[in-house]
Amino acid sequence: MCLTIQVRLVIKMKTIVAKADLENEELFRKASDILKSGGLVAFPTETVYGLGGDALNPKASEKIYSAKGRPSDNPLIVHIADTASVWELAAEVSTQAQMLMEAFWPGPLTIIFKKKDIVPHETTGGLETVAIRMPSHPAAMKLIKDSGVYIAAPSANLSGRPSPTTAAHVEEDLSGRIDMILDGGPVGIGIESTIIDMSTDTPTILRPGYITKDMLEEVLPEVKIDPAVSGRTMKKDIVAKAPGMKYRHYAPKGQLTLVEGDKDKVIAKINELVREKKEEGYKVGVIGTDETLDAYHADILRSIGSRQKPESVAANLYRILREFDDLECDYMYSESFFEQGLGNAIMNRMLKAAGYHLITL
Ligand code: TXA
Ligand code: MG
Repeated sequence: MCLTIQVRLVIKMKTIVAKADLENEELFRKASDILKSGGLVAFPTETVYGLGGDALNPKASEKIYSAKGRPSDNPLIVHIADTASVWELAAEVSTQAQMLMEAFWPGPLTIIFKKKDIVPHETTGGLETVAIRMPSHPAAMKLIKDSGVYIAAPSANLSGRPSPTTAAHVEEDLSGRIDMILDGGPVGIGIESTIIDMSTDTPTILRPGYITKDMLEEVLPEVKIDPAVSGRTMKKDIVAKAPGMKYRHYAPKGQLTLVEGDKDKVIAKINELVREKKEEGYKVGVIGTDETLDAYHADILRSIGSRQKPESVAANLYRILREFDDLECDYMYSESFFEQGLGNAIMNRMLKAAGYHLITL
């Protein structure tokens, strides 16, 4: 018999948690000092909370990977506060990229460029390209401007957990592992930015998000979707161009299954599956919508939002997945959403969370 003992060294530190009050100059000075000296500050953005470090300091990037427990071949997004910064970081800025910057920044769009040498490979996961985004959240903007630091920031969750949409989520995952958490309340959007690759001939969406293909095509003549991220099955033989998209980001403690089809059939099927699992003695949860929640019977019921308002579904998704984990649900069943507009990003994240377990009726 082979016995393997894993020792994980985590150096505990005191994490300062403070309200991201824009008037609190002293707080932002402290946060800036932490960033400038290579430390880590989690901060709110309009999409999800980010775990920030100095993007040009390889040691800071290494700290980000180790605090998150994230594979270091998964590159970080560099957050900036003015468009001029792009020319400092990117080797080539096409006219089309500038049109996107003009139309969508500040906001939830990340653009991939060929990188300049000053961006270390530690930040780009070894790639010759760099992902850049200008967030619109005022606290994020102030932090970047005050510190004068280009902030590398992945989502501020432990690798394998849903992205954080509140400061409490960040605390759950990273308290004791990072220097500071700025609490800006719940985020507005709730799922990560759209990523578009402008470093190749045809603009290509590498990760769907709040900025949809239709919105991008109002600005650019042609936008492709990377085959690795479209569709509803795991594409084992296609290499994802955004390295992060190849990981099963979030593996719930229980098994999540999505059910799609005609509304009444979906409700009947989910109730039948719940009954079966409950009879086997499992704790079972259902993710429904404001329109359907009353029709379900399960140990734990959550509405993910209203079908009339896809924004509400995006905003609640990660919080609900965390709640089901905390409640130690064994099986979870969820309704599905049309892959249109924001629905594309919602289904992309839900299918990943479900490990592509999908029942089509
Ligand atoms: O909304 C967001 O984008 C949030 C907030 C904090 O800004 N950040 C975020 O970061 O979602 P993260 O690290 O969780 O996801 C970054 C994604 C990964 O899938 C990564 O592989 C991809 O961006 N990425 C980063 N740099 C890239 C590059 N040079 N080429 C291709 N993909 C890249
Ligand atoms: Mg992430």
